Amino acid sequence: MEIQQIIEKLGLEPHPEGGFFKEVYRSTGEIDQGSLSEDFIGKRNYSTSIYFMLTSDTFSAFHRIHQDEIWHFYKGSPIRLHCLSPDGIHEEFIIGSDLENGQVPQLIVPAGYWFAAEVLEENTFALVGCTVSPGFDFRDFELAEREKLAEAYPDHKTLIEQFTRE
Ligand code: GUN
Repeated sequence: MEIQQIIEKLGLEPHPEGGFFKEVYRSTGEIDQGSLSEDFIGKRNYSTSIYFMLTSDTFSAFHRIHQDEIWHFYKGSPIRLHCLSPDGIHEEFIIGSDLENGQVPQLIVPAGYWFAAEVLEENTFALVGCTVSPGFDFRDFELAEREKLAEAYPDHKTLIEQFTRE
């Protein structure tokens, strides 16, 4: 299936980090602010889930959220995901279905870690799912500013420049 067909079939929209997404699940149940960590202002749904499509001509820029995020591989090329822990450890993971070569069909990005992603193969796409709990809210989402992030993690300046836009 072509990229455009998948975008239309799943009703995907552009995401501020790059790529396309569509929220497919938002629990009706809610968690009060008092039961959440201090990172959260206001209440949140228990959980949300999205389809996320990344194409080879772009990347998902470094961002972080207040919740752990679970990535699930569905279709297309594997994805290389870069993680930067708060204390500056860089780790790479390949999200895909080739288990023999160390790819993982499910990957957890811990809350507060910076992360960015790219499609491994040229001229194609990757379709994954991203699930979070508490449910997603753009108040919990921070897109990295290139200069600030590079100042905080000077050892990773090249990587940060590659995976930020502004
Ligand atoms: N809903 C809108 N954007 C996102 C995102 O980046 N991750 C998750 N899990 N849900 C979202």
